[in-house]
Amino acid sequence: MTAADEGPAQAAEADTIEREVGARITPSADFLARVSEVRAALVERVTAAAKARSSPLVRALVAGSAARGTFLQDRLDVDLFLLFPPDLPRERLREEGLALGRAVLSEPETRYAEHPYLRGKFEGFTVDAVPGFAITDPSHPLSPVDRTPFHQEYLAGRETPEIVRQVRLAKQFFRSLGVYGSEARTEGFSGYLVELVVIRFGSLRHLLVAARDWRVPVRLAEPGKEPPRLPADVALVLADPVDPNRNVASALSRRNLGLFILAARAYLSRPSARFFEVHATLPFSKEAALALLHARGTHVTVAVLPRPDLVDDTLYPQVRKAARAVADELSRSDFAVLGEASAADASSVVIVVELAHPRRPQVRVQDGPPAGIDRVGHFLEKWGAKSDQVLQGPYVRPDGSLGVDARRAERDAEAVLRAAFPRLSLGKDLTPKEAGPCDVRTLGEAAETPALAEALRALLARRLPWLDDP
Ligand code: UTP
Ligand code: MN
Repeated sequence: MTAADEGPAQAAEADTIEREVGARITPSADFLARVSEVRAALVERVTAAAKARSSPLVRALVAGSAARGTFLQDRLDVDLFLLFPPDLPRERLREEGLALGRAVLSEPETRYAEHPYLRGKFEGFTVDAVPGFAITDPSHPLSPVDRTPFHQEYLAGRETPEIVRQVRLAKQFFRSLGVYGSEARTEGFSGYLVELVVIRFGSLRHLLVAARDWRVPVRLAEPGKEPPRLPADVALVLADPVDPNRNVASALSRRNLGLFILAARAYLSRPSARFFEVHATLPFSKEAALALLHARGTHVTVAVLPRPDLVDDTLYPQVRKAARAVADELSRSDFAVLGEASAADASSVVIVVELAHPRRPQVRVQDGPPAGIDRVGHFLEKWGAKSDQVLQGPYVRPDGSLGVDARRAERDAEAVLRAAFPRLSLGKDLTPKEAGPCDVRTLGEAAETPALAEALRALLARRLPWLDDP
């Protein structure tokens, strides 16, 4: 399989790599047969349980990658959809769905995404039992999961065994880059999006050849159709074939799409199995970060908030917003901001900001009114007397207006941020309930936590992962 304009040597090399990786990640025939049995057994058991409870269940089906064989073996979850009549009140949908899930799954655990569902075990497999409405028009879903059976039908009708193989390879490629998954934490490519682009281009390689020249933002139009409108800040637009008004790639960030485009170019010009390996992230210690700061001649300030009781999908957008607010505040307060990052762990939310200097200058230039207007009197009254607050002036500026060099009370980034914290817009659930002291420290004084390690890695250890290919 060769694609348009890569060299023959690279193409042969990539063929070999993809064959080897493919063999490694392809589930065995036995395993696929097991999955298929479990799928049938699940639907049968849950249908029987519905009958026994006189549940209003319309239909049960397994959708998602387990239904199509497009899963990555070590990441298999079976997505069981329980569809109820569209006129069932939402509260009952929830109750009935969870009750049916509990009737067939062991070790059940209620989870929440946009939508409550039940995770449990069935014959050794992890199953997500997700209630939804049995709708007939996927462009008018009543709950966020109602399109799924239509996705299943769309994909199943287009996936040959070769496409299925290519989807698994592609998922592995995205995963190796750290951009697989549409969760808010990842902001990457969902499984469904990967399947659609592989079908569109025919193979991983053809997808990469196309993506090599993409410029962010990217619109993928249906052949012969108008491209969908491009909302602000979006990275990629691909209309959902079962609901053309929905962008399948809405969760993808521009950073992650940019990373994928660059990786496509790198892999095509220098194929390597590394593009399919999942790299363990080594712990990133405070000590290592402090050594880097020493070499960089910079400073890091750390803000820590208690983690509110929210799922990652709800929390992460707020954490990113809070980090932006903190960095903007420091920037407005005359600190040279080099970068910002954030992360959350089980107990805390951590925001880190790298600054060129830990302290801002003592002097703050205060603009005054132009000569000739009444307000001059007021300005001179306020600043004219010699005092500790005035380091120079008042004076006339080159444009003919007044100015004065005033003395600042606070110079440390931490003190400035602590004072500003109560008026920052941090995101609805991160704003402290009562005005208490906030935890802002220099990196040297910050507590070493998993969230701090993750935030520091995102701030100080950025490097295209394929450059260090051995
Ligand atoms: P999954 O996230 O489990 O995806 O959602 P998947 O296709 O099974 O892929 P992997 O292998 O587990 O990662 C199951 C189905 O739910 C719908 C899709 O139809 C998907 O196939 N879904 C999920 C969406 O429509 N949007 C999403 O953001 C997530
Ligand atoms: Mn799945």
